[in-house]
Amino acid sequence: MEASLTTVPDEEAPQGARETFPELVARLSRLSVTKHYDAYADVPWDDPAYRIDPDDPRWQAGDDHALGATDWYKSQPPDVRSRIGLHIVVCSMHIGVEFENILTRGLLGFAMKLPVGAPEFRYAYHEAIEESHHSLMFREFVTRAGLDPGTRGALKRAGAARVIRLAQRFPELFFLFVLGGEDPIDHVQRTLLRTDVPPVLRRIMQIHVTEEARHLCFAREFLRTRVPKLGPVRRQIMAIQAPLILGTMAREMLNPPEIVARTYQIPRHVLHEAYRDGELHRAVVRGSLEKVRKLCSELGLITGFSRFIWRRLKIA
Ligand SMILES: [Fe+2]
Ligand SMILES: [Fe+2]
Repeated sequence: MEASLTTVPDEEAPQGARETFPELVARLSRLSVTKHYDAYADVPWDDPAYRIDPDDPRWQAGDDHALGATDWYKSQPPDVRSRIGLHIVVCSMHIGVEFENILTRGLLGFAMKLPVGAPEFRYAYHEAIEESHHSLMFREFVTRAGLDPGTRGALKRAGAARVIRLAQRFPELFFLFVLGGEDPIDHVQRTLLRTDVPPVLRRIMQIHVTEEARHLCFAREFLRTRVPKLGPVRRQIMAIQAPLILGTMAREMLNPPEIVARTYQIPRHVLHEAYRDGELHRAVVRGSLEKVRKLCSELGLITGFSRFIWRRLKIA
């Protein structure tokens, strides 16, 4: 176990222009050996301080949260407020498990297409192992919280199968999808780590943010290395798909879960006020995609028609 429970881990970045992509990948792989966590050994689940208490006021959404800032939420009794806050966390961990499942299956497919000796092979396996521990942590949290995280439709399952195939056929687009999921989660968790949250959530987020720093760094540098070498057709596909994928992923990660709206009978106008029309929510969505949007711009993927889509989806 490391660091105090108040630290926010640093982001991982290439060591200047001298570090080549294969060197970076090798360094990230070594870090996976010296700085890695186990879902059970490194989270003291049975410590009484780590018990998930739905009445803990630290679960309550604050003024900086789209729903937390509404009059409707503020008028609810404290136990309802904290239960809703916990329920939102449960739903995002549940989505996290689904996302990481797709990601891991894609990564394993990507690895099998690599030639013997490619440093990405070892890295991809480290990442798959880390994601598996994250999913175990998230699932353990959902199970212990005892709140219904909702279910997913057939359409989303079909979309998942397509993304997994992308990892082998069009890895650049696959890693953009990866950033679309990892960047918003990382942004939200880094923000939450600066606030007062229960120890179990703090510990999970700290482990996650530390290891995701490597995953984000790999995906970004992979795109920086590979996108400039793409032909014009694939570049055009990426330019159009980027805002569509990123907009969808950010919504998936940050929009209000249906099960929460139903369980607490949140009036439709409150949901619209908070999410559809809420400037606060839009700012969170934009903020969560800021780094990947900058990367797309740097890679020349925001041009002409694609710029129009970014604006249309209100993510630029
Ligand atoms: Fe993860
Ligand atoms: Fe990750």
